[in-house]
Amino acid sequence: MTNVAVIGSQWGDEGKGKIVDWLSEKADVIVRFQGGHNAGHTLVIDGKTYKLSLLPSGVVRKGKISIIGNGVVIDPEALLEEIERVKTMGVDISPKNLVIAENAALILPVHSQLDKAAEAARGESKIGTTGRGIGPAYEDKVGRRAIRVCDLSDKDILKERVDALLFHHNALRKGLGAEPLNAKDVLAFLDKVAPKILPFVQPAWLLLDKLNREGKRILFEGAQGVMLDDDHGTYPYVTSSNTVTGSAFTGSGLKVGSIGYVLGITKAYTTRVGSGPFPTEQDNEVGEGLGARGHEFGTVTKRKRRCGWFDAVMVRQAVKIAGINGIALTKLDVLDGMKELKICVGYEYAGKQYDYFPASIKAQANVKPIYETFPGWSESTSGARSYRDLPANAIKYIRRIEELLEVPADILSTSPERDDTILIKDPFSR
Ligand code: GDP
Ligand code: IMO
Ligand code: MG
Repeated sequence: MTNVAVIGSQWGDEGKGKIVDWLSEKADVIVRFQGGHNAGHTLVIDGKTYKLSLLPSGVVRKGKISIIGNGVVIDPEALLEEIERVKTMGVDISPKNLVIAENAALILPVHSQLDKAAEAARGESKIGTTGRGIGPAYEDKVGRRAIRVCDLSDKDILKERVDALLFHHNALRKGLGAEPLNAKDVLAFLDKVAPKILPFVQPAWLLLDKLNREGKRILFEGAQGVMLDDDHGTYPYVTSSNTVTGSAFTGSGLKVGSIGYVLGITKAYTTRVGSGPFPTEQDNEVGEGLGARGHEFGTVTKRKRRCGWFDAVMVRQAVKIAGINGIALTKLDVLDGMKELKICVGYEYAGKQYDYFPASIKAQANVKPIYETFPGWSESTSGARSYRDLPANAIKYIRRIEELLEVPADILSTSPERDDTILIKDPFSR
């Protein structure tokens, strides 16, 4: 079994795009299975930067099949814009190498409008969403009133679906003081995008089953991270999908058991964008330094990411919940030149010690991290391509992380560039 899943083990932006692109050299098929264009995955290849939100990060390589699975919520306009943008960078995208699942749900303009209105209404307690309509679109999917990709090919069905959707949304809009939507306008919008989307549409699960039986190597590309998972993350400060490995099956239709190895993408420190608890946050010069050296600004919303020390308790929880077999430790170079480093190894809360992150909002907001302190290194690791090139203190830091997480660091990343990557154990050769 050689199929591999890549899962973010923190709050997203761990460097999944870089690692998926790098690993996709060895894969035949790359599959997105949850999230939407709230994701921002960055690839840097020979100095050229690609920012992908809906397209799987294997798309830039020739001869690979990219699949947007049924678990993804698809904004058709955003997808078409992204396809055009990436094509102008010289990447070939056609129905030969890009497949969209026929049973994926759509994000419509009404969803991003509602996302923004709900955030505005939350005021101080806003989630800090990307405003892309992800939450409202998943709500409609679970509420059985979503419009799906396959509906685009049948005008009668589409009319029925739009009426059902507006029955719900217009009641909601009335309550929010917004103008009601007109079915004709929504249908006109869908009519415009349908002919551009439909050529890519297939029963993706059927294709995946065939490719899997042929022994093709499938690489699943998670979006967000385990701590943003709707069940296992810092609820309600989460995204509206399950970001853990199980989603790869439900979100693609490939049978359970078809993944042989789960790679957890793990930043060598911690970042978070948006609101919510962050026990090891450093709202001081340490955090400022990490943010400046790591260029920690959101790919999608350009917001400044909050930065802090590595939280081994949280990542160990992610490892267990997502069944992570090994990690890719990224952005090690960002720690270069720091005098000392801290790793959170436990929490204290209400007179008790915890070796896990409790679920209650109050506890999550108030746990105090227990730290171990490590000496830093003055040498540069930036661009290192061999374990031998790493300073002794960097190796000690990595070793302690492996011990605390109870899984090995199988890949190390030392710059945004594709090839500034150290392979210790190949996920595909298990
Ligand atoms: P993703 O959402 O997990 O794909 O991550 P993002 O692309 O949103 O954010 C990661 C950022 O870090 C991007 O700008 C990457 O180019 C960059 N990056 C990835 N790996 C490394 C690394 O090892 N070192 C440095 N300095 N930057 C990295
Ligand atoms: P990638 O795939 C980091 C965060 C938002 C917000 C919360 C809910 O690039 O790692 P949403 O728009 O999903 O309803 O917002 O989730 N968020 C991300 N943070 N990386 C991401 O994706 C994210 N996608 C959503 O900032 O806090
Ligand atoms: Mg990102």
